Amino acid sequence: MSTDLIAEARRQTEICNACRYCEGFCSVFPALTRQKAFADGDISHLANLCHNCRGCYYSCQYTEPHEFALNFPAALAEVRQDSWERLAWPQPLARRFHDSGVALGVVAAATFALVFALLQMMKPTSGEGFYAYFSHNAMVALFAPAFLLPLAAVAISLRRYWAETGGTRLRWRNVVGGFRAAANMKNLNGGQGQGCNFEDEDRYTDTRRWLHQAVMYGFLLCFASTSSGTILHYLFDMQAPYSFFSLPKLLGVPGGILLTIGTVGLAWFKTKADPKLGAQRVWGGEMGFIVLLGATGFTGLALYAATGTALVPVMLAVHLGFVLAFFLLLPYSKMVHGFYRLSALMIEDQKQGISK
Ligand code: HEM
Ligand code: SF4
Ligand code: SF4
Repeated sequence: MSTDLIAEARRQTEICNACRYCEGFCSVFPALTRQKAFADGDISHLANLCHNCRGCYYSCQYTEPHEFALNFPAALAEVRQDSWERLAWPQPLARRFHDSGVALGVVAAATFALVFALLQMMKPTSGEGFYAYFSHNAMVALFAPAFLLPLAAVAISLRRYWAETGGTRLRWRNVVGGFRAAANMKNLNGGQGQGCNFEDEDRYTDTRRWLHQAVMYGFLLCFASTSSGTILHYLFDMQAPYSFFSLPKLLGVPGGILLTIGTVGLAWFKTKADPKLGAQRVWGGEMGFIVLLGATGFTGLALYAATGTALVPVMLAVHLGFVLAFFLLLPYSKMVHGFYRLSALMIEDQKQGISK
């Protein structure tokens, strides 16, 4: 654990605990007012609860040039980032992605796309649609471990996080409470529904929250689309590509559109927001995550648009390259924020007794 980062966040937490001006902004303040002293794990919990809305920075009377030099969003962002890298398994990979995310994401996706293009030379002797280029068995052999191994790595990190923050056995209602807080992203609404200050300094806006929801629900729709395709394949012997009025397309097309619009918006906001109020070192890694996610959605849509044309094999290789890169890098990219933040919201629901 980086003692300097924790010590600085603890110093600022103690000042906030004495001041309490920002009490109604988010879940962090009710959480910190429960205690007078903060163990290292308590600071990690507060950091993962913070949604970096930046409201507390722009309202604070103790920011520089005041001698207290408060920058609470940045202090918590640094600790949060450190927790994701420190608790990741295997750990060195996480630091590498966060340091040079765009390059790593693009190189990984391009390499995998090339491998998929080369694999097309060994075309299966039978098969229709996409399976005319890769056999179904080859796809399953590649993507099943590429999906399950990263999830196992995330589970190991979350276990470590849970131990560090002193999380105890949750009740179902706390799990539901955590999901509810994530589903409407209540900690990005500024406390009164006025929105956050991320991209526009002290002006409130809800756009970031809506863009995030577009990305999150877009991703979940794409995931549901792929899962429904798997069910159709195995249980109903129906093979891809599917028609527009099929479950995979009805879920996947809106999902891809939401994912693409949302990621373009979030990437744009990132270039406008003040980097000093976040974890500055990992700006590139965060951008890499957004690019990888957006490209996965966009290339899926492009593959659909290319149906029936000579571009299908190229688009298939490119799309599968991005999907594989996204999943393999998942435990080391900012994608882990969803798992950690969801855990923090559930733990907080339990500690505050929100869902009774
Ligand atoms: C499960 C609960 C989730 C929670 C509580 C959550 C929360 C957040 C918050 C608070 C932010 C803004 C603060 C920050 O930049 O760190 C954020 C950023 C983001 N989230 Fe989520 N998220 C969740 C799941 C997801 C999912 C499933 C996706 C898509 C796969 C996603 C994609 C993004 C993206 C692209 C960003 C922008 C990153 C950036 O600006 O650096 N989130 N999330
Ligand atoms: S961020 Fe500033 S104004 Fe808000 S509680 Fe902390 S010290 Fe007070
Ligand atoms: S940045 Fe926003 S979410 Fe984080 S502590 Fe400040 S007010 Fe709360």
